[in-house]
Amino acid sequence: MSDRAPGDVLVSRDDLTARVREMAAEISADYAGRDLLVIGILKGAVFFTADLVRELAIPCEIDFMAVSSYGSATHSSGVVRITKDLDVAVEGRDVLLVEDVIDSGRTLRYLMRNLAARDPASLETCALLSKPAADRLDLRTRYVGFHLPDVFVVGYGLDAGERYRELPYISVLS
Ligand code: IMP
Ligand code: MG
Repeated sequence: MSDRAPGDVLVSRDDLTARVREMAAEISADYAGRDLLVIGILKGAVFFTADLVRELAIPCEIDFMAVSSYGSATHSSGVVRITKDLDVAVEGRDVLLVEDVIDSGRTLRYLMRNLAARDPASLETCALLSKPAADRLDLRTRYVGFHLPDVFVVGYGLDAGERYRELPYISVLS
């Protein structure tokens, strides 16, 4: 368990609700008339994915993948292992990958390559949060909820050593 604790609220519950609603409206417009497959990345994106799909105005299918990245609790090494793969095939599907936070961007880059190799009709990404390092990478993240400074955050699915995921807001770990 971490010896640090959640401090200042960075994104409030109301701000999360409002932004998720906006993102869902944008996605609904972009994918109108298409057959959307939403892929949430466990565990961090579980609440974001659940809230997002419930605000969509279009039908979709939902699946999840779990990955573990080798490295310390607060830094990913970029070496990613799939610990739970999809139940459905993505070939020919319009796929939207939903991530909690992009830090270095290595996890997302790995997943994009992995999924692209399965021949989806289209593949886009949606991240609730993005940090400065990710903004410098050419990841072409189609939808980003909030751009964060270089701080470690917890809550709304995000953890520090598996703690604090249940907080209904996003808080800086201090
Ligand atoms: P990346 O591969 O460096 O982009 O790291 C992405 C993954 O690291 C995320 O899916 C999270 O699991 C974790 N991560 C990065 N920054 C944070 C943070 O501020 N809080 C909690 N987890 C984080
Ligand atoms: Mg994590």
